[in-house]
Amino acid sequence: MKNSILLCIIPLFATMMACTSNELQVSSPNNDISVIISVDSVGSPSYSITKGGVEMIEDSPLGFIAANALNLGSHFAVKGSELSAVNETWTQPWGENKENINHYNELVVMLENEDTELNLVFRLFDNGVGFRYNYKVNGVDSVYILDELTTFDIAEKATTWSIPANFETYELLYRTLPLDSMKDSNTPMTFKTKSGVYGSIHEAALTDFPEMTLKNSGNGALTSELAHWPDGVKAKMGNEFSTPWRTIQIGDNAVDLINSALILNLNEPCKIEDVSWIKPMKYIGVWWAMHLGTETWTMDERHGATTENAIKYIDFAAKQNIKGVLFEGWNEGWENWGTSQYFDYTKPYADFDIAKITAYAKEKGVEILGHHETGGFIANYESQMKNAFEWYGKYGIKNVKTGYAGAFKDGHSHHGQYGVQHYRKVVEEAAKQQVTINAHEPIKPTGIRRTYPNMMTREGARGMEWNAWSDGNPTEHYVLLPFTRLLAGPMDYTPGTFDILLANSKNSPNRKKWNGLDKGTSRVNSTLVKQIANWVILYSPLQMASDLIEHYDAHPAFQFFVDFDADSDWSKALDGEIGEYIVVVRRAGDKYFLGASTNQEARNVEVSLDFLEKGEKYIAQIYADGDNADWKTNPTDYKIMEQEVDSNSVLNIKMAAGGGQAIVFKRCSSID
Ligand code: NOJ
Ligand code: CA
Repeated sequence: MKNSILLCIIPLFATMMACTSNELQVSSPNNDISVIISVDSVGSPSYSITKGGVEMIEDSPLGFIAANALNLGSHFAVKGSELSAVNETWTQPWGENKENINHYNELVVMLENEDTELNLVFRLFDNGVGFRYNYKVNGVDSVYILDELTTFDIAEKATTWSIPANFETYELLYRTLPLDSMKDSNTPMTFKTKSGVYGSIHEAALTDFPEMTLKNSGNGALTSELAHWPDGVKAKMGNEFSTPWRTIQIGDNAVDLINSALILNLNEPCKIEDVSWIKPMKYIGVWWAMHLGTETWTMDERHGATTENAIKYIDFAAKQNIKGVLFEGWNEGWENWGTSQYFDYTKPYADFDIAKITAYAKEKGVEILGHHETGGFIANYESQMKNAFEWYGKYGIKNVKTGYAGAFKDGHSHHGQYGVQHYRKVVEEAAKQQVTINAHEPIKPTGIRRTYPNMMTREGARGMEWNAWSDGNPTEHYVLLPFTRLLAGPMDYTPGTFDILLANSKNSPNRKKWNGLDKGTSRVNSTLVKQIANWVILYSPLQMASDLIEHYDAHPAFQFFVDFDADSDWSKALDGEIGEYIVVVRRAGDKYFLGASTNQEARNVEVSLDFLEKGEKYIAQIYADGDNADWKTNPTDYKIMEQEVDSNSVLNIKMAAGGGQAIVFKRCSSID
């Protein structure tokens, strides 16, 4: 603790704070996590965190640096403080869990200097901490933020899992690094301290601010580094503003980080009155062949989104209990991808008869997922967006996948405040028109799906596409994502490629290399069963089966996706270690789906089925790696078994190297 002035407030709740000289403390409802907030001799605020009495975050600076000599970080005096507590349960139209508990103690510290009023708001949950800054700067109209001082000074040596900091992309490989050698990272930045506590630093409610990345300033101190505008300013704010929440999820076990609603709890409640039109679904699409290089987005002899192909995909979806079909490369502009980036969102290619296709889909009870690739040309998209949603609406298209594959113009970055504002505008306009969004090359998720549940899923990490045209995602990628990127929110990873070695496309005369990273040796680095397990593990309310339909048709293991329900009611990560393995279960209606996967190590995991409803018998349909399966040498060896189980059963889940297991539990009383 550095020298602090006396900061003492009346202990309204005995369990919430212990007030000693020079420090103010607020604790989590179960008293396990505590924060001490201090203001030093020059009036600069700071905070520290303990868990179980052990220091986790050492005394770390708070505040910002602003232009025009506005002082947002020092010379503060304490004007007062307020304590409150909340314990509520709220529901959402979809999610890993439809019901969530929001239970925290809050401390607001009111600070003031010559021209600035700052309310520091700390919320302590049993599984972490969130804090934000509410500023009011008098005598000015706007505040230009040049830097953030917020630091997370991790008290012990730690192992970290993260991607490097980058203001343009999250499609980077995860690294497992000792804290000391991690120079910078994006968030969520997950870590495990030497004494065994798990943590993850991220942000919540990023709605009008640049994204926060972390820079290691030595000795475990990670300082916020904000994305910037082309002129170098980090954030351009009015004279009264709130920052996003800075969050630290904390747990005793790795899976505690996953079984947490902290990010959602720190977001505003739903702003959409009628949410009945927002529904999770499974989908397929005219998509993978373009990445494989056997079809094209542009209208040429290898064009993917033709009327004929569309009808084939709609028929397959209708037959296989799949609600949605995505079409990419349906509109004019793909010939400009990589050059002017001009796309027209109301001009279908001549060989894509949108009226016929959408009428046919309607007849078959299938929904079309539209696609708006922007190429990063934001001004073009913003000028067409409203009209483009309306135009899609006329054809009954109410779900839109957006894409930002290309640099933003005029020096703007994907993750700067300009980008954040743009992604927000899309969600708000879509909400007005009852359209759901699945954003690729997005801003990272920070829980805004609670406020706008039409913001359903997004990419924001290396997804399946990388397996088509690069060295691919390593086996451990799948057991890193749930503990890092997915802590922030759902991901449209698009799992489920069955042609693991991409043999059919490699042998196709239509295949042409289109991506510079393609060495002709691409493949999916997992077993087939691990692909199936990922439908459960990699949560997305819009869950895609990414492969070509000819690879699913008549494949016995595709039955798992036919049975799968993307509309989960309840979820729990049962077991796992970061980058090693994971076991997740989800309930949808009266079915349970379990997904387990491992890194390059073969592994057996015992799982108690005590999550099943007591007194009920279930048939477990088990999709397991075959006895000779191995992701490298024999990835497609699998077996399907059935077993009767109940809540007293324990299953031994055997996974091959780079493999997994997927199980559907069907209630016996519901099977006719
Ligand atoms: C990148 C997206 O992630 C991918 O899904 C899409 O097919 C391409 N961009 C083209 O829009
Ligand atoms: Ca992408």
